[in-house]
Amino acid sequence: MDLLHRALLTAVSALSLFYALVKISLGYWKRRGILHEKPKFFWGNIKGVVGGKRHLQDALQVIYAKYKGRAPFVGFFACLKPFVLVLDLELVRHILVKHAGNFTTRGLYSNDGSELLSGNLLQLDGHKWRALHAQSTGVFTPANINKLLPRIVLISRGVQRSLGKERLQTLNINELVDSYNLDVVASMAFGLSADHTEFRRWTQSYWGKFSLWRAYLALEFPLLAQLLNHKSYAVSAMAYFQKVVLGQLQEQRRRDRQPLQTFLQLYSNMDQPLDDVQIAAQAFGFILAGLVPLNATLSFCLYELARQPELQDRVRAEIRKTLEQHSGQLTTEGLKELLYTKQVLNETLRLHTPYPFLLRRATKEFELPGSVFVIARGNNVLIPTAAIHRDPAIYEEPLRFDPDRFETEAKRTRPAMSFLPFGDGLRGCIAAQFVEQELLVGLVTLLQYHRYTPCSKTTIPLEYDNGRLLLMPKTDIHLNVERVDN
Ligand code: HEM
Repeated sequence: MDLLHRALLTAVSALSLFYALVKISLGYWKRRGILHEKPKFFWGNIKGVVGGKRHLQDALQVIYAKYKGRAPFVGFFACLKPFVLVLDLELVRHILVKHAGNFTTRGLYSNDGSELLSGNLLQLDGHKWRALHAQSTGVFTPANINKLLPRIVLISRGVQRSLGKERLQTLNINELVDSYNLDVVASMAFGLSADHTEFRRWTQSYWGKFSLWRAYLALEFPLLAQLLNHKSYAVSAMAYFQKVVLGQLQEQRRRDRQPLQTFLQLYSNMDQPLDDVQIAAQAFGFILAGLVPLNATLSFCLYELARQPELQDRVRAEIRKTLEQHSGQLTTEGLKELLYTKQVLNETLRLHTPYPFLLRRATKEFELPGSVFVIARGNNVLIPTAAIHRDPAIYEEPLRFDPDRFETEAKRTRPAMSFLPFGDGLRGCIAAQFVEQELLVGLVTLLQYHRYTPCSKTTIPLEYDNGRLLLMPKTDIHLNVERVDN
């Protein structure tokens, strides 16, 4: 046999093996006799997502709408990986709350042996997550969050300065809100006080060359990825974040008793504190889990309010009245009174859900009570929160931005688990209360003396960035900003 024949034979054998492996993988739901969306060769049901032609949320929404009402869940494939897509809110409750013990794992890639900062609460699973979670819940208590308010209010003055004194200007809203949220993270999670230029640079580049492909491969073959020492983030960025935290912790210990102002202090003041590198990992988790959704929420919110001036005026009136009643000071009590502003935030989180889905992996088999439906041990489960938030059977005219949906009475008419921007249960967002506080202070500062309207650079309708798993605007949002003193 000559060389050409051998090469041909090897190629044909390799292709046949590949073809057989793909076919076996994509036959998973059929073999189990479970209702599923018919997969396309290799791509499963997410064709167009990996190349950025459509957002994963769009693909999930289509499957959700097609199968909802036919079964509690449907099978689908993200390339070759089988997923359970949950369609029924009762099943959501079982997974997130009632039987959360069967689903404590998220199944994200973490390599905390060599990439130390991936040992954060979002990425870890198993006993490491359990221990860290138990300690972190003592940090994110309502009492502690309230104590951090004065520092956030102080930081928000920087936004007032960025808005300047000009009567009318066109601003890049993403940059504006990023400067606020970044200052909060730099200060609260990293203890930094002054210039954040270098910190900002690393928060924008820590992914290195992020690609959905690499993220997918690490998710699909985590053991192989660990063996190959795959790192999710740029090494230099991780070194920088770690250096900052270790330096700040040393500095903190040198100084004597200080007023409690940051998460760094809270983490290091615990009865059984984490070690310094673990604290650095949680500080990095703040950037990883929080920065993009915080920025996206404030930008989307101003975009929606710019398009509906009467709603914007109502928010501004509420803000001014509340501040007046509290002698111009932003206090915890004052924030509680911003009921309509909170409705606006919730409607933003419903319509533009930053985390469009929740992930769980079954660590034990789960049989849905009173049914024949079984989620097998090891199954990856996806709860399509953005699709639920846009389900017309739950939210009438779901694409309309309408904060009245979050009036107390309206909320009462909706089923449990129909609003999950922060997830729920054991693995829900640990920072939800802090996030609400930060977003409210941000909105008060941005709206008290400024009116936002669309300008020639505003993209309407808004588009999402298909290259990201979270929902964020494809291009920066620009708006006209007018100073309104009264
Ligand atoms: C608008 C802003 C934010 C939104 C919408 C949001 C939403 C979420 C969601 C949906 C999850 C997954 C919940 C689940 O699987 O059930 C999550 C997890 C998490 N979030 Fe947030 N988040 C935000 C900001 C933040 C911030 C600022 C932090 C800072 C510490 C943070 C820390 C975390 C952590 C540590 C987890 C993982 C919790 C665990 O697995 O135990 N988030 N967040």
